[in-house]
Amino acid sequence: MIPNQWYAILPSKSVGKNEIAAVRRLNLDLALFRNSSGEICCVVDQCPHRGAALSAGKIEGDYIRCPFHGLEFDKNGKCTFIPANGKASTADISRYNVRHYLVKELNGIIYLWYGDAEKAAEKLPFFYDQIDETYSYSEIEDHWNSHYSRCIENQLDVVHVPIVHYNTIGRGNKTLVNGPKVLYENGILQTSANNETDNGQKPKPPSECIIKDTNLNFIFPNIWLNHISSKIKVLIYFAPVDDENTILYIRFYCKLTKIKIINSLIAFTGKFANKIIERQDKRVVITQKPKASSFKSGEKLLMGDGPIIMYRKIRDELKNHQDNQQ
Ligand code: FES
Ligand SMILES: [Fe+2]
Repeated sequence: MIPNQWYAILPSKSVGKNEIAAVRRLNLDLALFRNSSGEICCVVDQCPHRGAALSAGKIEGDYIRCPFHGLEFDKNGKCTFIPANGKASTADISRYNVRHYLVKELNGIIYLWYGDAEKAAEKLPFFYDQIDETYSYSEIEDHWNSHYSRCIENQLDVVHVPIVHYNTIGRGNKTLVNGPKVLYENGILQTSANNETDNGQKPKPPSECIIKDTNLNFIFPNIWLNHISSKIKVLIYFAPVDDENTILYIRFYCKLTKIKIINSLIAFTGKFANKIIERQDKRVVITQKPKASSFKSGEKLLMGDGPIIMYRKIRDELKNHQDNQQ
C-alpha cells in the first residue's frame, strides 16, 4: 500500500445508524460505526482488554461498546467507561484506548486515511470536474482474489480489450494496438484506446496518438473513471482488503434524460452490463502472478502497456517518496 493516502474503502450505505460494520481493509480488521450525529467513525476491531471483536458489540449514543465486558470507546478510540470499575471510578484508563483511523465521506463513499494523521490531506480524491449531482448512479460490488494494483492495471489495459472482451466491449477484432497516449496531469492519469483491425499496418507510437473523448482516468491511490460520453460514465473504486484480495465497487453513472428516475432506471440496467464485462476481466486477472505488480518486475511489457508502466512508475515514486520522508 502507498502510505499517506485517502483510500476509498466502502459505500456509505454499508454503515447504518446504530450499526457496526466489520470490514477488513488495507490488511486491517476495522469496526466502522456512526456516532449520534451520524458522523462516520473507525476503530481497530479488537478490544484492548481481552481481544473480543468490537464489531460484535453495540452502539450506545456516541460510543462503541465491547460485547464482552462492556468497555466503551469514542470516535477517537478513547476508552470512556469500564463497567467493572464502576461509575464512580476516577482512575486513568487511557491505557485501554484502542487505535482509531481517520475516516471521511464524500458522494456515498467512505474514505480512510492510511498513514500519519497529521499529514492527512484536506481534499478527498474524486472526479470533481466530471461528476456532479445531476447524475444518477447504481453500484455493484465484487470480490477479486487479486492485489488491488492488478485490478487497477486491468482497467488501464487497452491491449486486453479485443482478447478478453472479444464478444462484448472488444468486439470487432481490433487487435492492433496504437500507442496509446498516456498523460499524467493534475494528479490524474489519463489514456484512451486507439486499437485498430490488423491489416498488416504498423502500430502507431504513442506520440502519434491522441486522448479521445472516450477515455480512462485514474486518481491515486484507488479510484478510476471511464468517460464513455458526457452523459454516461463508469467509476470504480478498488478497496484493498489485504495483499491478495480486493473489493471492486463499480458505479454506472447516467444523465441521459432530464428525468432523474429514468436516469436511475438506466443506471440500474447499465450496472448489469458492467457485471458481464467485469466477470470477463476477473477470470483472467485473478490468475496473475505475482499477486502484486511492481515497477521493477521481470514482466516483458509491450508498447501498449504504456498506461500500466506509468501507473507502476508513479506508484513506485509515491511509495519511495514516503519512505524517504520517514
Ligand atoms: S474483551 Fe472487550 S471488554 Fe473485555
Ligand atoms: Fe477489461
